[in-house]
Amino acid sequence: MFRAEFKGTLKGSIRVPSDKSISHRSIMLGSLNKGTVVVRNFLRSEDCLNTLKAFLELGVEIEDRKDVIIIKGKGKHSLKEPFNIIDLGNSGTSIRLISGILSGQPFYSVLTGDQYLRRRPMDRIAIPLKMMGAEIFGREGGKYPPLTILGKRKLKGIDYKSPKASAQVKSAVLLAGLFSDEPVSVTEPAKSRDHTERMLRAFGVDVEIKGLTVCLGKNRNLEKDIEIDVPADISSAAFFLVGAAITPGSEIVLKDVILNPTRTGILDVMKRMKANVKVENIKSVSGEEVGDISVSYSPNLKATEIKGEEIPRLIDEIPIIALLATQAEGETIIKDAQELRVKESDRIKSTVENLRAIGAEVEELPDGMIIRGKTSLRGGMVQSYGDHRIAMTFTIASLISEEVIEIDDVDCIKTSYPRFFEDFKHLLIE
Ligand code: S3P
Repeated sequence: MFRAEFKGTLKGSIRVPSDKSISHRSIMLGSLNKGTVVVRNFLRSEDCLNTLKAFLELGVEIEDRKDVIIIKGKGKHSLKEPFNIIDLGNSGTSIRLISGILSGQPFYSVLTGDQYLRRRPMDRIAIPLKMMGAEIFGREGGKYPPLTILGKRKLKGIDYKSPKASAQVKSAVLLAGLFSDEPVSVTEPAKSRDHTERMLRAFGVDVEIKGLTVCLGKNRNLEKDIEIDVPADISSAAFFLVGAAITPGSEIVLKDVILNPTRTGILDVMKRMKANVKVENIKSVSGEEVGDISVSYSPNLKATEIKGEEIPRLIDEIPIIALLATQAEGETIIKDAQELRVKESDRIKSTVENLRAIGAEVEELPDGMIIRGKTSLRGGMVQSYGDHRIAMTFTIASLISEEVIEIDDVDCIKTSYPRFFEDFKHLLIE
């Protein structure tokens, strides 16, 4: 049991840890590349280290020099059959994207994860990957890990209409598509994060984007010596952005945060809610826009509605946005977010249940929630369900709760933000 009782104001400036999505992809694409990739500011969290370990087990030469990671890839056909089951811990991005890559390998591999990952649906990637010719087996008729993959050196093409706006599904198909010489395209119902497309292009792969459709072109080989500098993660920044907005006297700057438009939904929502948030010093780093975000205490927050195409642009930030909404005037409505039910936890349930446990007034919807604003939070006992973003949301909530918030497990925070408590204490003036 962890006792969250952080009281004071947030002041000063930090660079939150590097982006999780880009860190995963830097190792994956670097491993399929023929050439040397230098990764700076790699996120050393459990999830990303699990991706790194997986590619070591697949025979890729990766040198961890602590300040940088150096990947000496020998091309997309150079991976070796793993000697053991590959354990991806808590990481949905790792298991789903790696499944795409292993679909194009002519060998046998088995992927598993922790008790939470083994309950997350994999049919969303298995369906298109099987259509491309891979053989994939899993528990309950192929739905859940452990997954067994028998890949093929050459996959069939696909014109996949994804039923979900999911970067993991889109990426799994695009990565498998590298092992096909037939047309490969993915169309999604709304745009999800586009880091895979951007990075494939940086490695020299032909990628064409037409609206919501991404197509692979003729060149599907990665052959570049490049350096990838990973920017700070807006999904990690989100906790302190909201912490500062709801805590009187606060004023902070978060440096070098990724501003890719498929990720900045939280900034649009905060601005709509009349939070004092500003973006400055915008520049381009490794093909991604980054900038410094400053936020100060925002006493006049207003409720908003979050739905539709905005959802994938802030999907991981919804628990912390829900906390922000408890302090806004009016009722905030979040809908079209049914995907939250299959994240690291059922994030609709874990957010609603825990907000209620500390005194907020929240109504659960099948695809979201309605949050009553201007409520004072009492404090109480919450459960993280092994979900890092839930644990961080309720640690931040203690800034404004009257009493302590007890959280059953905060160890899960290591999956994305190992330095979370250090950074929090650094910003906190008691
Ligand atoms: C991610 C995509 C999103 C997001 C996850 C990271 C990625 O998942 O929630 O934290 O790196 O591709 P979905 O693609 O399932 O929406």
